[in-house]
Amino acid sequence: MSSSFLSSIRRACNQSVGKIVLNSDRCYWNLKCLGRYRAACTSQTALQPRIVLGIETSCDDTGAAVIDEAGRILGESLHSQKEVHLKTGGIIPPVAQRLHKENIHRVVQEALDMSRISPSELSAIATTIKPGLALSLGVGLEYTLKLLKQYNKPFIPIHHMEAHALTVRMIHPVQFPFLVLLVSGGHCLIAVANGISDFLLLGQSLDEAPGDILDKVARRLSLIEHPECTTMSGGQAIEHLAKQGDRKKFYLKSPMAQHFDCNFSFAGLRNQVTQIITKKEKEEDIQKCQILSCVNDIAAAVQHTVASHIAKRTHRAILFCKMKGLLPQSNAALVVSGGVASNRYIRRTVQIVTDATGMALLCPPPKLCTDNGVMIAWNGIEKLKEGIGILHNPEGICYEPKAAFGADISGQVKEAAIKLPYLKMKIRE
Ligand code: KG4
Ligand code: ZN
Repeated sequence: MSSSFLSSIRRACNQSVGKIVLNSDRCYWNLKCLGRYRAACTSQTALQPRIVLGIETSCDDTGAAVIDEAGRILGESLHSQKEVHLKTGGIIPPVAQRLHKENIHRVVQEALDMSRISPSELSAIATTIKPGLALSLGVGLEYTLKLLKQYNKPFIPIHHMEAHALTVRMIHPVQFPFLVLLVSGGHCLIAVANGISDFLLLGQSLDEAPGDILDKVARRLSLIEHPECTTMSGGQAIEHLAKQGDRKKFYLKSPMAQHFDCNFSFAGLRNQVTQIITKKEKEEDIQKCQILSCVNDIAAAVQHTVASHIAKRTHRAILFCKMKGLLPQSNAALVVSGGVASNRYIRRTVQIVTDATGMALLCPPPKLCTDNGVMIAWNGIEKLKEGIGILHNPEGICYEPKAAFGADISGQVKEAAIKLPYLKMKIRE
């Protein structure tokens, strides 16, 4: 093995370790573990490290990354459409498609250039094919098919939610089975991860996703006009303003209190908040696009209700898993990921539950919680290592805007009808 090859591996390793986001939160990664894990991987794989290019275009982020099997990020690039969609007040699929088309080549090229890996050196290309916006998924798949043909590489089609669920294993040696909560703008589900493509779905949102309702409430409050929030996503703006608000100024009913299952619902909460906003707008006689004086209190109330709803359903999921022996008796872990998982208030509320039930709480750093190419490439690496889901002839492969996630056992959870013991959901700021 040439010394230049070894030194390029070392360089890549140093670069990516430097990029890991460190945070004082208790639920963040322990660098010592990370070091041990990487060292173990390196000793096993130094001879012929497998390398995967991952491509993500399922929604409004064009992402690409090149990763080796030890989880080292050799190159990455991300183009976010957030600002465009913020201005139009939501994602317009043909606009998202156009932006993916305009950026995909540059994004993939940047990731490859940064990695100094030529496409011919790749072990495989992994791309999100489900679920997501049809027009967005189509751009990633079409581009991938061209690359596959040009370089004659195997294809690993990726389920976006599975990739979110497993990203954690890139930086922490969490073993199966573990519990995973995915909360984003498009999804809300809780599942047991038994293996790379083996999940038991305990519950999911019956209507909207938490990020979606935070985005809608933020739009209804015209937060884009708020001087402190002009470039923030709805969820970020709500989190930011909530810090200065008093959640007790507004009473919001907790969703699904009479349903003893692990499903989620946010549409009713959105209606409650909309009614409050309409009433307050009349009282303050404000015009469209003006900001209510009580905006911080509304943000705090909605954030708290979303957080405690998520925490309660998670609590029941943990108790169900314990009852059925679905998780290890010691060192059981809850992984929380997706864009909404970057909300510190929500994480801390969930942590009240994990502390009370003796579970470890693991959250990837915010950069890996939101959509990106890294999680897709890592899912490709995991599949490659297990030898599953690898296509040598991608002919006939289609994207799937709607796709199930794991085996649905939410009916069994409902049947168990577990009543939650009281837990005080109080967060000290
Ligand atoms: O995972 P993601 O990047 O995309 C998908 O939805 O798949 O998540 C984006 C969502 C948006 O709804 C955004 O408002 C929300 O995550 N989000 C947050 C925060 N940062 C992003 N929600 C609450 N608090 C945050 N700090
Ligand atoms: Zn996502």
